[in-house]
Amino acid sequence: MPAIVLVGAQWGDEGKGKATDLLGSGVDYVVKFNGGNNAGHTVVIGSEKYALHLLPSGILSPGCTPVIANGVVVDLGVLIEEIDALVARGVDVSKLLVSANAHVIPPYNRVLDRVTERFLGSRKIGTTGRGIGPTYADKMNRVGIRVQDLYDESILRQKVEASLATKNQLLVKIYNRRAVEVDEVMEELLRHAERIRPMVTDTALELNEALDRGETVLFEAGQATLLDVDHGTYPFVTSSNATSGGACTGSGVAPTRVDRVIGIFKAYTTRVGEGPFPTELLDEHGQFLRDAGHEYGTTTGRPRRCGWADVVIGRYAQRVNGITDMVITKLDVLTGLDAVPVCVAYDVQGTRFDEMPVNQSDFHHARPVYEELPGWTEDITGCRSFEELPANAQAYVRRLEELMGTRVSVIGVGPERDQSIILHDMLGRD
Ligand code: GDP
Ligand code: IMO
Ligand code: MG
Repeated sequence: MPAIVLVGAQWGDEGKGKATDLLGSGVDYVVKFNGGNNAGHTVVIGSEKYALHLLPSGILSPGCTPVIANGVVVDLGVLIEEIDALVARGVDVSKLLVSANAHVIPPYNRVLDRVTERFLGSRKIGTTGRGIGPTYADKMNRVGIRVQDLYDESILRQKVEASLATKNQLLVKIYNRRAVEVDEVMEELLRHAERIRPMVTDTALELNEALDRGETVLFEAGQATLLDVDHGTYPFVTSSNATSGGACTGSGVAPTRVDRVIGIFKAYTTRVGEGPFPTELLDEHGQFLRDAGHEYGTTTGRPRRCGWADVVIGRYAQRVNGITDMVITKLDVLTGLDAVPVCVAYDVQGTRFDEMPVNQSDFHHARPVYEELPGWTEDITGCRSFEELPANAQAYVRRLEELMGTRVSVIGVGPERDQSIILHDMLGRD
């Protein structure tokens, strides 16, 4: 009855989409349990390249049932657009299920996300502007709109009216924007409602029944550990739980049913948006990583901030997620460097921290303490076994494994599905 959770171990864009795709054929359900179209997963299958935002990456695996669970916030227009774009490319999306309890991103929350950021000025978060934060805030404030509300027009109208009563005050009086009409919101929401109605169901029941039948369910996190609203670098985070615990609350599957947690750790670090980043490189090494790793956002096209690997973060991710298997991605990007530094601890104004400081300002002042490992020059994109890797690349992976205290099960050496070195079966069959 394996239930497996897959999470990002850093600040996102670790290569979760590729890892999900790699597991795809062994999995019956792939579940997105948090976030929304702030995520951007690039999956390369042969000559085809797919960019997914709201749909789980498992939608590309034939036979696998993709699920948008209750913890997700759904932009209905984006959902329809993504479905149509995949259908046009011959992908079967007929099995897609959407939770009746998932929240909908109403148009006014996209506006509020952007104007709030503008208002914050230099204190902005650098959000994706998709309305994610305001929609989760509505959920917690108990004024959100759920997918099931779309099918009762009078309830929907009441909820939109109640929400706009305060939202319009904010928009007009604080942000100097025009008020949003109830009718225009109703029109946008209802335009898409019928189209998705056949997909709407009790996904928690469906997933638990699938596990009862002995089927394999993969929970694919959007974002990552350090963007988690509880465990990340708050306030520079997203507004959902992107760590493994979020898979349970975000889907209605209990923690007792989860067997394995796969952590995706890029061989170096990137971050999009604002917030602290101890190993960030503002020099030619940062540019080298950005160019070699094509580190430009899938969702917003923003250049990603780049830096060396940080195992303090890796250990932290291991701990808060209970990671059983680590996937090291993009090892190929480090090829050609004389030396590869790894951050093993922080120096905070003269005090050494071996673990993530709990205090936000300590983390802002953290300076990396590096251990320097020798680099390699051989092209590794064709390697398919650990032994084929150059000795220094092997040593780099083994050192990360040792420092993070978790076994490495897969190593990525290129964007394509088969550009992977499998050391252990991530589904726990070995
Ligand atoms: P996600 O948000 O975690 O799914 O990651 P993204 O898709 O945003 O970013 C990861 C990028 O790296 C994508 O363009 C992938 O195609 C690519 N990628 C994934 N694994 C590897 C790898 O091992 N090597 C290289 N060179 N690229 C990879
Ligand atoms: P994937 O799933 C990287 C970042 C944004 C911003 C912060 C809050 O592709 O790894 P939000 O719009 O969520 O309120 O923005 O979170 N962010 C991501 N960074 N990868 C992502 O997703 C991200 N999703 C959100 O850049 O700093
Ligand atoms: Mg991404």
